[in-house]
Amino acid sequence: MSKRGLFITVEGGEGVGKSTNIAVVESWLQEQGIAYRRTREPGGTPLAEEIRQLLLAPRDEAMAPMAELLLVFAARAQHIAAVIEPALAAGQWVICDRFTDATYAYQGGGRELPQAWIARLEDLVQRSLHPDLTLLLDAPLEVGLSRAGERGELDRFEQEQRVFFERVRNCYLERAAAEPDRFRLVDTNRPLELIADDIRALLSAARTGQ
Ligand SMILES: Nc1ncnc2c1ncn2[C@@H]1O[C@H](COP(=O)(O)OP(=O)(O)OP(=O)(O)O)[C@@H](O)[C@H]1O
Ligand SMILES: [Mg+2]
Repeated sequence: MSKRGLFITVEGGEGVGKSTNIAVVESWLQEQGIAYRRTREPGGTPLAEEIRQLLLAPRDEAMAPMAELLLVFAARAQHIAAVIEPALAAGQWVICDRFTDATYAYQGGGRELPQAWIARLEDLVQRSLHPDLTLLLDAPLEVGLSRAGERGELDRFEQEQRVFFERVRNCYLERAAAEPDRFRLVDTNRPLELIADDIRALLSAARTGQ
């Protein structure tokens, strides 16, 4: 049986550079000859991507925060069963654009749902599954929002007010401080090459510790 793969999540607010830097992670994995699966949340399977559409589409009806939370975890349950667990069990690394830290940050921090409720669902849905390494990409709010804002149409989250994104960012930073073994903070308010150097070093270290 192959050794279980590493589960790596990339987190951060709007426009901090997750997609851009996941490309760096992918090219490093390819150089190293490591089999991997790139995926994202909410989404990552056809059903979970449909739930993503429900979550992101702007709508007139206000979505109850609890409904939003349960949709996020419904998508996650499917994603774990259909993609994440099978890939890790087969020895592939899984690189995921956002995971449960985003639920704490957006539905907990942003929507102000109790963290304890999220923790209960996390236990129920994930059991022992947790990321081995989480890269928290961080930049001042204005930097991320202006980078993201250049893309045009805003989704249901991007339409939120600045205070919402402040709570999201603070929640991410608090979680990183509370779990320093799992999190690595990456300052993305820098030139891409410097960020890429840091990310490659962090991945090498994770591989050594595997
Ligand atoms: N370090 C950087 N310096 C300058 N521009 C950057 C940097 N990182 C990303 N960008 C640019 O900012 C924009 C947003 O980056 P990207 O799409 O990677 O962010 P994201 O975190 O994936 O956003 P989203 O939250 O919307 O998924 C892109 O146009 C990208 O080219
Ligand atoms: Mg992205």
